[in-house]
Amino acid sequence: MSKKQSIKVQNLVKSFGSGDSRVDIIDGASFEVNKGELVALIAPSGAGKTTLLMMIGCVEEPTSGTIWLGDEKVYENKWLTKETRKIRREKIGFIFQAHYLIPFLNVIENVTLVPQTNGLSTEESEKKAMELLDYFDIGDKAHAKPSELSGGQNQRVAIARALANTPEIILADEPTAALDMERSVGVVKMLKRIAIEQNVAVIMVTHDEAMLPLCDRILKIENKKVISSVVPKGSHLL
Ligand SMILES: Nc1ncnc2c1ncn2[C@@H]1O[C@H](COP(=O)(O)OP(=O)(O)OP(=O)(O)O)[C@@H](O)[C@H]1O
Ligand SMILES: [Mg+2]
Repeated sequence: MSKKQSIKVQNLVKSFGSGDSRVDIIDGASFEVNKGELVALIAPSGAGKTTLLMMIGCVEEPTSGTIWLGDEKVYENKWLTKETRKIRREKIGFIFQAHYLIPFLNVIENVTLVPQTNGLSTEESEKKAMELLDYFDIGDKAHAKPSELSGGQNQRVAIARALANTPEIILADEPTAALDMERSVGVVKMLKRIAIEQNVAVIMVTHDEAMLPLCDRILKIENKKVISSVVPKGSHLL
């Protein structure tokens, strides 16, 4: 694992079911994502994008293969630790399409929930959360409920929450799906800024081709393998 690599996957296989009902989703995927890189993950619906993110995020167990996260080999034909939840909490920030903010907690409570579960004091976690909310221009919404915010504002809260435990890796599953073009561009540019400023590896699933020129590279699931390609040039969005 080189110093700049953040995610390294080798010969990853994922099947669901067994015997006659066995379905192979990923069949021998190998790829890397570097620190500071924003990579788009694309493929048709049902091709295995979410499944792949969930394996990298130590949520879904692969069938076989190897996964490194940073310096740590976390999976080689089995989880190499009993504490996948700990790895997940410490290394990974998830951003989902439906942002899954907890509706009865206000914005700052949503952002501080995981750091406080990880043992950070209320004071420290709130200070960090306010920095993040200010960074995303929603500091004035800290005490509002998610239902009082727009879709784009909620998505920024979800990104702040993903960053609250200073992850090494961000896995974003269609973070712009519910947003208009302007807001989508804003979110993707924000992810790129985070990748660079915090040296984080970001994998973003998207169905929106207009977002691709804003990414550094494209990973595509094709024939159950993962292929890397360069982004199309010359977009008006850049
Ligand atoms: N727990 C499961 N048990 C059985 N099959 C599953 C399970 N989870 C996912 N699958 C199947 O694996 C395939 C890949 O699903 P996945 O959700 O990863 O696709 P996706 O590329 O994210 O699609 P979309 O773009 O629609 O979100 C699908 O055919 C799905 O039905
Ligand atoms: Mg999906």
